[in-house]
Amino acid sequence: MVVFSSALAMQAQAIAHRAAGKTIGFVPTMGALHSGHAALIKEARRRSDVVVVSIFVNPAQFGKNEDLTKYPRTFDDDVDLCTSCGADIVFAPTVDEMYPDGFATTVSLDRRLTGVLEGEHRPGHFDGVATVVALLFGVVQPHSAVFGEKDFQQLTVVRRLVRDLKMPVDIIAMPVIRDVDSLALSSRNRFLSAVDRSRAVVVPKAVQAAQDALQDGEHDAARIIAAAQRMIDSEPAAAADYIAIVDPHTFAPVTVVDKTARIVLTVRLGGVRLLDNGPLFPGLRRA
Ligand code: PAF
Repeated sequence: MVVFSSALAMQAQAIAHRAAGKTIGFVPTMGALHSGHAALIKEARRRSDVVVVSIFVNPAQFGKNEDLTKYPRTFDDDVDLCTSCGADIVFAPTVDEMYPDGFATTVSLDRRLTGVLEGEHRPGHFDGVATVVALLFGVVQPHSAVFGEKDFQQLTVVRRLVRDLKMPVDIIAMPVIRDVDSLALSSRNRFLSAVDRSRAVVVPKAVQAAQDALQDGEHDAARIIAAAQRMIDSEPAAAADYIAIVDPHTFAPVTVVDKTARIVLTVRLGGVRLLDNGPLFPGLRRA
């Protein structure tokens, strides 16, 4: 396993691998790696000759009132996890390496996709994500890149970016990896107190409540959302920032679930924002 901090050295290595006919699989991360990331890296390993993991806490995707300095940094453990999952290269640049003086480019997608839900609560967030993903793709030159469905709006933004700019990168989506009690794995979970961690199970239960309502024959999105909201309300310490049912390709709101849709929600608990989502398949009925 090799660690590169220079973008030019990383890019030269990627070009050499491509010239040798090797396929490059890429997993972009901000570090603080956990089993969810391990699943993404193993998937890249399964699909490609060379696996690159980037570890870069991207300041461009943090808002003014979001504390970038508090983002967990666990570099040595992250490198160990990358090694144990079979990664070949870790790309870990500094902020100056990625955004040198004079850096003047922002990749910005249509606000109908990036200004709603998570984008409304975190203005500019998805421009920061799109910019760094485009930058990383230019450096790492991957044939494929693996993203988790946990950040479903981010995945949709990345898919749109790649499609619109005709980037020759295959975007692979991996299902949400969950803890034993179904809470979606996230770097943020480490900030939950023990008591809030046990309360957090209400978040995946809200996704399940929505799926159950649909399977019981309810197709009206507002009523399905109400079922999820009731579940969140059953935990007094939890408050939903939003619960929405959207088209999984455009994030346009859905009013009647008559084709596959996605329920997406963010819940605040003990000062931590917990994201979750799940598919809504209208064809499935409870046995
Ligand atoms: O999901 C993340 O960890 C980040 O948003 C990403 C895709 C690595 C971009 O910084």
